[in-house]
Amino acid sequence: MLKIGHRGARGYAAENTLSSFEKAIDLKVDGIELDVHLSADGELMVIHDETIDRTTNGKGLVNSFTKAELQNFSIEDNNKIPTLSSVFDLVDRRCFINIELKSFETAAKVVALIEKYIREKHWKYTDFIVSSFDWDALEEVNFVNPEIPIAVLTETDLDKALAFAKIIQAKAINPDFQLLNIENTKKLQENGFEVYPWTVNETADIKKMQSFNVNGIISDFPDKISFSNH
Ligand code: G3P
Ligand code: CA
Repeated sequence: MLKIGHRGARGYAAENTLSSFEKAIDLKVDGIELDVHLSADGELMVIHDETIDRTTNGKGLVNSFTKAELQNFSIEDNNKIPTLSSVFDLVDRRCFINIELKSFETAAKVVALIEKYIREKHWKYTDFIVSSFDWDALEEVNFVNPEIPIAVLTETDLDKALAFAKIIQAKAINPDFQLLNIENTKKLQENGFEVYPWTVNETADIKKMQSFNVNGIISDFPDKISFSNH
């Protein structure tokens, strides 16, 4: 069962920062999950919200600032908003990277960056998985490069996610963990998809997901996953 650190290791470090990703790797994750938005000058920036208000000392929309301006704002513990390529360089293939597209506009740029790392740095497609609640963005990724592994995110409807996953030949379906039970988890898997629920933080819920035999768990506390293996 894969251990995937949500926004790095959000339970232990400022989310979506290089410190958080390094912490997740220290905790021996199989993969990290992160979120991307575009800056005003078209850079892929790793941040969850569409504004910088909650996580930095600034205010405003991510896409209203250039990369340089965004990196002048501070996040707790001396962190800055990372670019996606800086995260790739930090991770350096020590675990896979689940890139969640937070807007349609990020899709083609994320594909181009993945292709660059595969072409120039000999990374593999298995080093990446691209997910989104914006299924148009996933369709775009699949259209531009069908080899890129995709996970379909859903917080409402597993059947719709299953139908869409078949259309784009996704690798995984990543549901809100509260949607899952043993039967529907099995159904998704029998249709050929891996299942990575989020965001599973309580030990009791982690155990429940393990009893459903999910393929991986996305957690703010990825170290809890191995403690509760059975
Ligand atoms: O990738 C799963 C999960 O991260 C989706 O929710 O709001 O944490 O991006 P959110
Ligand atoms: Ca996310």
